[in-house]
Amino acid sequence: MTLLQKVIILANKLLSRRRDKEIYRKDFDTSAEEYDTAITRKMLGKFTEDILKELEYRRGMRCIDLGCGTGHATEIINSHVGSNGLVIGYDISESMLEIARERLKNSLSAKFFNKDMLLALREQEADSVDLITAFWALGYSEPNKVLREVSRVLVPGGQVAVLVNTQESLCELQKLVSKILIWHPFVLNYIPPINFPSNIRSFRLMVDKAGLKIKSLREESCEQSFDSGELLVSWMKTSGPCAGFRGALKENRRDFVFDKIREIVNHSGGIRLTFRFLYFVGTK
Ligand SMILES: C[S@@+](CC[C@H](N)C(=O)[O-])C[C@H]1O[C@@H](n2cnc3c(N)ncnc32)[C@H](O)[C@@H]1O
Repeated sequence: MTLLQKVIILANKLLSRRRDKEIYRKDFDTSAEEYDTAITRKMLGKFTEDILKELEYRRGMRCIDLGCGTGHATEIINSHVGSNGLVIGYDISESMLEIARERLKNSLSAKFFNKDMLLALREQEADSVDLITAFWALGYSEPNKVLREVSRVLVPGGQVAVLVNTQESLCELQKLVSKILIWHPFVLNYIPPINFPSNIRSFRLMVDKAGLKIKSLREESCEQSFDSGELLVSWMKTSGPCAGFRGALKENRRDFVFDKIREIVNHSGGIRLTFRFLYFVGTK
C-alpha cells in the first residue's frame, strides 16, 4: 500500500463521509474543455488506438464504451460497425459527453448516455453485446463488479478491452502530495474511492473470477516531464489523471496545496511522472 493510500484511508476514517461519484463527475467536468488538446491525451490516446487495432470488427456489431469521455475510442469503434451497427458510450460527466455527442453528431450508429458504467451494464440483457471497452475509466468504478457484468452481458466469444491505471501510477506525484498531506491533513475535504488494481496479478484474478478469457494482458508505462512547478500545477488543475484529487481538497485550501506543490517541484528543478497501467484484451 502506498503512503498516499495510507493517508487517504486514515483521512477517510477521520472524516467518515459517505463515498460517491460526485467528485469524479465534477472533476471530469472541469477537465472536459482541455481534455483532447492536453499532451497526456496524445500520449495515452496512442495506447487506446493500439489496443483498438487488436480487436476484431464486423459490420452490424453491438458495442459499449464504458466511461467514454469525449468519445475518442467510441469514434474509432463506430468507424468499424457500419450504419446497421451500434456503439453506446456511457459516462457520468455531462461536459465530456457534450464533446462526444458533437464529435459523432453525424453518426446514426453512435449513442451517448449519462449513466454510471455499472448501472448501465446491469440494465443490459445477458449475452447481448459483441464488444465492451473501458479505457482509462474502470478504476473510477468497481472493477471486479464491472468485469463480472461485462462477462454476463457479452455474447459467447464477445470481446472486452481495458486500459486501466495501477495503484503505482504517478507514484512520484503520490509521494509529493503525501508529504504535504501528512503535515496538512485538514486540507482534505471528501475523499473519493480509488479502485485502481494494485498489479497485474490482482487484475488477472479479477478477470478469472469474472469468467473472462485472456488474450493479452500486460503492464505498460510511459512518462511525462514537467520542467517547473508552474507547468505541473497548471496540468493538475485541469488534467483527467488528477480528477478526484482536486475535488478531494477543501475548496478554500486548494491554492495553498497547489502553492506547496509548485514550491517543491521548483526546488527540485522539475518532475517526471510515470503512468503505469494494464493493457487487457479478453473474450467471453
Ligand atoms: C480518464 S477519462 C477517459 C475517457 C475515455 N475513455 C478516453 O479514453 O479518453 C475517464 C472517464 O470516465 C468517466 N467516469 C468516471 N467514473 C465513471 C462511472 N462510474 N461511470 C461512467 N463513467 C465514469 C469520467 O467522467 C471520464 O469521462
